[in-house]
This record gives sequence, structure tokens and C-alpha cells, in this order.
Amino acid sequence: MASIKHRLVIPLANTVLLFLTLNHKYSFAAGAADGQTFIYSGFSGTGIIVDGLASVEPNGLLQLTNGTVQLKGHAFHPTPLQFHKPTTGIANASVSSFSASFVFAIRSIAPAVSAHGLTFFVSPTNNLTSAFSNQFLGLFSKKNNGNATNHIFAVELDTVQSNDMLDMNDNHVGIDVNGLISIKAAAAGYYDDRNGSFSNLTLSSFNAMQAWVDYNGKSKLITVTLAPVGMARPRKPLLKTTYDLSKVIEDKSYVGFSSSTGILDSHHYVLGWSFGMDQPAPVIDVSKLPKLPRLGPEPQSKLLVIVLPIASGVFVFAAVATAVLLRRRQLQYAELREDWEVEFGPHRFSYKDLFKATEGFKDKHLLGIGGFGRVYKGVLKKSKSPVAVKKVSHESRQGMREFIAEVVSMGRLRHKNVVQLLGYCRRKGELLLVYDHMPNGSLDKYLHYNNSPAPNGSRPISGTNRMASLTLDWVQRFRIIKGVASGLLYLHEDWEQVVIHRDIKASNVLLDAEMNGRLGDFGLARLYDHGTDPQTTHVVGTMGYIAPELARMGRASTLTDVFAFGVFLLEVTCGRRPIEQKEGVDQDSPILLVDWVLQHWRDGSLANMVDQRLMGGYDVDEACLSLKLGLLCSHQLPCGRPSMRQVMQYLDGNAPFPEGTLEQIMVNRPGSEPSVASSPPPSTSFGTISVDLSGGR
Ligand SMILES: Nc1ncnc2c1ncn2[C@@H]1O[C@H](COP(=O)(O)OP(=O)(O)O)[C@@H](O)[C@H]1O
Ligand SMILES: *[C@@H]1O[C@H](CO)[C@@H](O)[C@H](O)[C@H]1NC(C)=O
Ligand SMILES: *[C@@H]1O[C@H](CO)[C@@H](O)[C@H](O)[C@H]1NC(C)=O
Ligand SMILES: *[C@@H]1O[C@H](CO)[C@@H](O)[C@H](O)[C@H]1NC(C)=O
Ligand SMILES: *[C@@H]1O[C@H](CO)[C@@H](O)[C@H](O)[C@H]1NC(C)=O
Ligand SMILES: *[C@@H]1O[C@H](CO)[C@@H](O)[C@H](O)[C@H]1NC(C)=O
Ligand SMILES: *[C@@H]1O[C@H](CO)[C@@H](O)[C@H](O)[C@H]1NC(C)=O
Repeated sequence: MASIKHRLVIPLANTVLLFLTLNHKYSFAAGAADGQTFIYSGFSGTGIIVDGLASVEPNGLLQLTNGTVQLKGHAFHPTPLQFHKPTTGIANASVSSFSASFVFAIRSIAPAVSAHGLTFFVSPTNNLTSAFSNQFLGLFSKKNNGNATNHIFAVELDTVQSNDMLDMNDNHVGIDVNGLISIKAAAAGYYDDRNGSFSNLTLSSFNAMQAWVDYNGKSKLITVTLAPVGMARPRKPLLKTTYDLSKVIEDKSYVGFSSSTGILDSHHYVLGWSFGMDQPAPVIDVSKLPKLPRLGPEPQSKLLVIVLPIASGVFVFAAVATAVLLRRRQLQYAELREDWEVEFGPHRFSYKDLFKATEGFKDKHLLGIGGFGRVYKGVLKKSKSPVAVKKVSHESRQGMREFIAEVVSMGRLRHKNVVQLLGYCRRKGELLLVYDHMPNGSLDKYLHYNNSPAPNGSRPISGTNRMASLTLDWVQRFRIIKGVASGLLYLHEDWEQVVIHRDIKASNVLLDAEMNGRLGDFGLARLYDHGTDPQTTHVVGTMGYIAPELARMGRASTLTDVFAFGVFLLEVTCGRRPIEQKEGVDQDSPILLVDWVLQHWRDGSLANMVDQRLMGGYDVDEACLSLKLGLLCSHQLPCGRPSMRQVMQYLDGNAPFPEGTLEQIMVNRPGSEPSVASSPPPSTSFGTISVDLSGGR
């Protein structure tokens, strides 16, 4: 039995405790154990007494009137307060000092046409059922208005000018004793602390305002101060008067608010309230007060007022940002297209595709830097095939049409020893050529890997070139030689038109996955040939590979290609560059590889010229054939050189090498001293060569 009792008691005690803590949250006695000082920051669960139209909203807002016309509403602190000083006798008691502060708002259908107002009052009774609404503010009636037996002190916030009450205007604050004919009144407003100027406030503006009401029990001074909510209490009060409230306020009096509606829809709200007996009213933290309801008629209007500008601002921003982005994109991917290019359409790549393929021409995709520009590795999105994209800067539009035509026609070249040109793209000042990617890089890196610095300007960057640390063996070299010869023969004779490569050299021979040699860069030199003045013809080619007549006349032919191919043969077989500094010989007299090989040929020690790094691991016949053929091809006179078809036959062993011819023409060769540069000596005859094109390579 005892245990059952226990179980009942404990939950009850908990409930009481809970109730007390809830109460405490909203109304507490600050420093007053007697409950004479309190603060309401919102009214939910506070036990405040309401009647008439008054109610506490779910958010804690105290609504004195709800818009229903010709009615009134009241709210009281639940217990009456003791206003008289306990020490004084009952007869001539003096009223204690008191201080009240509250935040209120009045809403009417329009700011100018309002409905009555509200009062803060001290009253001996909480039964105001007999009070009238409208101009009596729910506090008095026609019968008792002004009767000293009322014992009511009030501060009115009046929004209607009522002649019966001798009101000054329809927006005033008044101090009332026992009736609504104020003993002192002033237009609503406040005095600015900084410059002392008066600012009007419109009570029925639905803007929250704070009011302070103070009575000094000693000096009998009554002050009323008003300010917009959030503003610190102005130092100068709006109303100030002395009146002895001792005869007015009874010892046990209720404090509260009254309000009434007239003929117009109006709402009166109290957001927070504090009261101090014999001490200042606790300061109300306005940030903790409940929110006023959104203004009535069109709830979405406020939404629109706030959201629409933000939304449109965001929209405008987004639009501008998109436009800027699009423009940047447009610029980033901008290309140069002309009408005549339409016919080349299928060979044209979009810059965007190339940009994406190379991830924006990132340095990590850089394969190498050649004489014409940078070469990047990329993977085309559509075909997933790896490509090499060569960026050639080209300012002039001159000859571009012919060049593109050539590029496109060369795109139709198909040979296993020619690097496939896939297409092109043009931008302002820039031409992009797209080739099949050759996984093993260029041949020169295998031949001259330990000769640094590389004088042709190419620098190995891609990882594949690190394979160059292995010297190519003879079988590989001879296969490359034959491949290049076959590719060049195709260009010269087997295609629908004669294509002159113009820049045969080891660095323009690329190696595919099977280490087959493939000619690259063909025809590019043309770009710098077209449309230039014949008087100042720029010879394009690479020092050491340029045939004498090309240097003199500036005319490229299949035989100038054969000359360069001859030099290439010697380069691959000897593993040496076409122009070399001989060890121990002073810097100013470079030695031409051709002359050096020629010397050994005369001495009958041709095999000594074969690359030492092969360590004798080569076919002597093939190597000597290659060297002799190299000499024959790089003959000074074009008529002494074989055609590529003949070269092919000699290499394949389908025709015997013309030893006699070689002997015959080499005997007559001028400048046969090996230490002297062959005619034309580079230092003089090469003066007509455009150094920026050929010398830089
Ligand atoms: N199709 C390709 N595949 C792979 N690498 C290439 C390709 N084309 C060029 N490269 C690399 O880019 C470098 C520079 O190329 P290029 O401009 O042709 O040089 P150069 O002007 O010296 O002949 C080459 O040395 C080579 O390593
Ligand atoms: C206002 O309150 C009264 C009494 O509670 C009620 O009868 C009336 O319908 C309410 N009016 C509005 C507009 O809510
Ligand atoms: C009480 O007040 C009345 C009038 O104000 C005065 O005549 C009377 O002397 C007062 N009595 C005391 C005890 O102060
Ligand atoms: C309030 O006062 C009226 C008369 O003014 C009276 O009829 C009514 O009974 C009173 N109500 C209470 C609760 O005392
Ligand atoms: C004031 O009210 C009292 C009590 O209600 C009444 O007896 C008296 O006649 C009223 N005085 C006036 C002037 O109306
Ligand atoms: C006083 O200050 C307020 C607020 O700073 C300003 O609006 C008002 O115009 C000032 N009045 C005068 C007379 O300077
Ligand atoms: C304040 O309001 C009163 C009455 O409406 C008006 O006469 C006065 O000019 C107003 N003052 C200011 C500063 O607006």
C-alpha cells in the first residue's frame, strides 16, 4: 500500500515543479521575494489573467483586441500588488515609487484611421465588466468616468481624438487619474538624446514601441517616456507632471492593460512587460519578445516585397555570371573560321575538343617543344584514340588557304611510315595540327641521348623518351632507315601529287609502338615558304641537312629531300650529328659528318665510322651500304643524287649499289679536306638562311 502512495506522490511533485519552472521562465521576481517586481518576455504559460477580446497567442504575444469592433479586452497581472508603504498607517498612507515598462503595437486598417487605443492602468479591481469600449478604452464607463471613487491611475495611448475626453489629437499619450480626461497629455513621440529634437511616432503604425511609466513616491513626479522598440530609453521623458497618487491608488491594486475597439477593425498587442515596486522596472530584452503577426490582407505581399527583390537580384546575378562564363568560354574556345574552309570541314577539329583532349594544354601533357611550337599529348573523347596536338603560332594569314589545303590533302596521305595527320584547327595567330600519337617519341633521342645539350632545340619531356637510355641496335636502325626511305618514296612518287618533306632529320622521325620509323612534320615548312618575296626567300630546313643548291637558290625539290635523307643515313649509322665538334679540334672549325665519312671511305676504313655504341654488333655490309648511300645522297650536285626509288632498291638489295658512280663523283668533289667544312661553308653561304627558322632548331 505504501508503495502505491509513493508512486502517486512523486509524479505529482514533479508536475508542480515543472509548472513552477515554466512560470519562472516568463515571470520572475527580480530581487523581490514579495512578488512585487516582475518581467514578462512574452505571455505564454504565465498565468496572466485576460478577459473580453484579450488572449495570449501561441507565440506568447498578448493580444488585447482581435479586430472585432465595439468591444474591449483586459489583461492583469494575476495577483494584486501592495502599493502602500507598509510602515505608514492605513489612513494617510503614501504610495511607493513604482516603475513600469512595456512594449506594445497597435494595428489599424490604415495608419490614419485608427481605433481608440490602449491603457496601462493601476486599479483596485479586476472586474471591469461595466467599462465601456470605444472612447472609454475599456476602462471606464459614462457613469464612473472621472469619479474619484474609481481609484484608477492610467496612462493612455490614444489613437482617436475624442472631444468628450478633450483629446488634443488622434495620436497622443496621456496621464489619467480616475477618468480619461488626462491631467497631462502630449503628442506621441520622443526627444532625441543627441540633439534634443522631437520626433513624432505614430502609435497605430503597427511598429512596436516601448513605453516607460515611472512614479516617484517622494517627489510625486510622474513621467512617461516613449521610444521606438530597440531604442535605448530617451533621457528626456515625453510627459512629466507631479501628482500625489496617495489618494488615488489603493493599497491592493491590480496592474494591467485595457483596450477597446470602436467602429474600425483594430488590433492592440503587448509584447513584453516589466514592473518594479520601489525599484526600476527590469530591463526588457526586446530580442526575446514574441514576433508580431504578419500584416493581414495579403500575406504573400510581404513575402514578395522581400523575396522578389532577392530572387530577382539572384536571377540577375546568375544571368550576368552565366553571360560572363559563356563569354569566357566563347573566348577560351574561340576559333578562326573562314568561308573557304567549308570544303575542309571534315578535317577540322573544334578547339573545344582539342582543349578537352589535352586537359587545357596542361604542361604534364607536353610531349616536346619543336621548332614550330609545342606538342601536346591528348586523347580524343569521341574516338578515345591518343593524338599529338602541335600548336604552331602563326600570325600571318598569308598563304594560309594554300597551306590548309595542303594539310587537308596530306591528311589523305596514308602510309605505314608516315605519321598520320588527322586534321587541323585554326585560332587567332595559332594553328593546331592533330597527328596520331607515336608512343616511342622521336628518333634523335635514341641516337644522341648522351650528347647534351641537344643542339636541335627539342627537349625530351614525355616519359617514353626515357627509353632512349637504350641505344637502338643495328637491326632496329636499319629497319628505321628502310621505313623512312619507304615513307619518303611514297611522298615523292607514289602519291597523287609530289610532296616535298623539306625537313628530313632524325628528330622528325617518330617511332611507333613497333619501333617503326615514321616521317612526321612533312610540309610544315611550306607554311613559312608561301607568299614570301622571292628576293628574300627564307630557306627552311635544318642546318647540316640543307642541300647546297637549296641554300643558294632557296628552291626545295625532291632532290633536296634526298640530300637530307643522305645526311640522315649517316646520322643513324654513325650515331653522330650532321655537324659535330671533333674532340680536340678547336671550337671554330666544326666538322661535317659527310666529310668525315668521306675521309674514311677514301681511307678504306668506313667501318670505323659505324656507331661505337653498337659494340660491333652490326651487319658490316648493311652498315657500309648505308654509309655509302648516305654519301651518294648527300652529294653536292643534285644530279649526282639517286632518286628515292633507287635508294629503296639499293636498300632492299634489289639493285647493286653503284660503287663506280660514287667513286667517280667523289673524286671530283671539291673541298675534300675533312677538317674544312664542305662547300658551301656554313659560315658564308648560310647567310641567306633565315636564322630564326632554321638556326633555332
Ligand atoms: N605524333 C607525335 N607523337 C608523339 N610525339 C610527338 C609527335 N609529334 C611530335 N612529338 C614530340 O614532340 C617533340 C617536338 O616535335 P616537333 O615539333 O615535331 O619537333 P621538331 O620541330 O624538333 O621536329 C618531338 O621531339 C617529339 O618528342
Ligand atoms: C475575437 O474574439 C472574440 C471573443 O473571443 C470572438 O468571438 C471573435 O470571433 C474574435 N474575432 C476574430 C476576428 O478573431
Ligand atoms: C492625512 O491627510 C489629511 C489630508 O491630506 C490631513 O488633513 C491629515 O492631517 C493627515 N493625517 C495624518 C496623520 O498625517
Ligand atoms: C463584476 O461587476 C459587475 C457589476 O459591475 C457584477 O455584476 C459582476 O457580478 C462582477 N463580477 C465578478 C466576478 O465579481
Ligand atoms: C461617484 O461614484 C459613487 C459610487 O459609485 C457615487 O455614489 C457618486 O454619486 C459618484 N459621483 C458622481 C459625481 O457621479
Ligand atoms: C536630430 O537627430 C535626429 C537623428 O539623428 C535627426 O533625424 C534629426 O533631424 C536631428 N534634428 C536636428 C534638429 O538636428
Ligand atoms: C509631429 O506631428 C505633429 C502633429 O501631427 C505635427 O504638427 C508636427 O509637425 C510633426 N513633427 C514632425 C517633426 O514631424
